Amino acid sequence: MNKPIDIPNPVPFQITDPAQIPTPRYYDEDFYRLECEKLWPHAWQMACRLEQIPNVGDWVQYTNVGKSVIVVRTNDGVKAFHNACRHRGVPVTEGEHGNCRSEGFICPFHGWRWNIDGENTFVYGRHLFDEKQLEPQELALRPCRVETWGGCAFINFDDNAPSFRETIGPVADNLEARGMSNMRSEWWFATVLPANWKIAMEAFQEGYHVMRTHPQLQRAQPALYNTRYGHDTGGIGSPINPNLTVRQNIEQAFKGMELLSEGMAGMVHAKEVEIARQLVGMELPDNPEQAMMTWYGAVAAQITEQLQARGEPVPNLLEVMQNNPVQAVEFLFPHYFLLPTFTSMSSYRIRPLGPEECLFEIWSLTHYPEGEEPEPPMEPTFLPYDSKDFPPIPQQDYANIPTQQKGCHAEGFDFMRLSPQIEGLLSNYQRIIDGYLGDVPQDKLAAAIQKLGGNFDGPILDLGF
Ligand code: FES
Repeated sequence: MNKPIDIPNPVPFQITDPAQIPTPRYYDEDFYRLECEKLWPHAWQMACRLEQIPNVGDWVQYTNVGKSVIVVRTNDGVKAFHNACRHRGVPVTEGEHGNCRSEGFICPFHGWRWNIDGENTFVYGRHLFDEKQLEPQELALRPCRVETWGGCAFINFDDNAPSFRETIGPVADNLEARGMSNMRSEWWFATVLPANWKIAMEAFQEGYHVMRTHPQLQRAQPALYNTRYGHDTGGIGSPINPNLTVRQNIEQAFKGMELLSEGMAGMVHAKEVEIARQLVGMELPDNPEQAMMTWYGAVAAQITEQLQARGEPVPNLLEVMQNNPVQAVEFLFPHYFLLPTFTSMSSYRIRPLGPEECLFEIWSLTHYPEGEEPEPPMEPTFLPYDSKDFPPIPQQDYANIPTQQKGCHAEGFDFMRLSPQIEGLLSNYQRIIDGYLGDVPQDKLAAAIQKLGGNFDGPILDLGF
């Protein structure tokens, strides 16, 4: 697949060779402005986790590229409103979250009020205004599209965009089969990275960086990573290391789980590691491939059985692995992604703060027995991006991202050069962005976004435009 995309209107620094990404896309101010105008207002954005707004009247403010939206739990479900007073535009919320059930929303400037359904309930000094300025439908807070899925609220400013489900496609069901709606945050970290938001996203769109950036993972399971990426540098061609005994192979697989858990928490939860530890010495077939399959199957079955016995609402892992397969990383265009392995997950959200700065958030998500869910974190724990308090894997990723941003400015470095076989997701993502900026019809964009599901470490694809 090497054809340039066909878009109605030209885009600055447009991708003409799908394996080359022009570097000004990562710092040019006009390109950034175009994203703010033509991408973000038309895309589904993850606005909040629903556990932040469990009760009627609970609200959170979501902000991105200069816009603010209130997401509120009402008697009729979750609603969203553009956060601007209908008098003179001041945001009607103070702070990042709260409950408006008794008082509604009160504008801090002149005190106009709205109920949780966005209807205006009070205008101070009403007699001072022309009645035609105060039509109820005119004074109501402007609604914003919102859909709930996977324990989150997603918003979209575009009334004509395809629905969230139509946009994301089958990956929504495959992830939901893992019980995403029942998950809760164990923790929520945030940092500001001195890098374009796409640089930050792309750091997670291939596994090719593991060998150098996360060497502990490759050391734990060299056969796994060499097979995937290392054929022309001595890869051994099988996920099983033939120089090791069956038992040693299993110990390596277990070590890989441990390292993912230490490195990224919810990606493989510590409780899942403890269950797997019970099975390291289990009876296994002599054939190494069969032994590995048998062991992973037993781990999945035991995680299901033991966590369900504790009252956790986890799915039957063997069933979902067979019927609803997911990738190591699943991307929901444009700025949210999940790392599902067993029953827990890590999730990430990235928002631009300018052409060369972004806000990067990570949640560790897991299940709890009903009635034992912890109080949800209402705000992230902010850390500097080089903090040693981040889990080891994000620490390693954050070391690359800011320096890569600097490298984009180097003389003569005109474009990123991608492997068309394993870095295709980066190209597919960037060309969908060109589709938004170049006015490709929304139904075609949604069809292209669906192709991202399952494309982790995959090839450059024909996007259909
Ligand atoms: Fe909100 Fe005046 S700006 S009441």
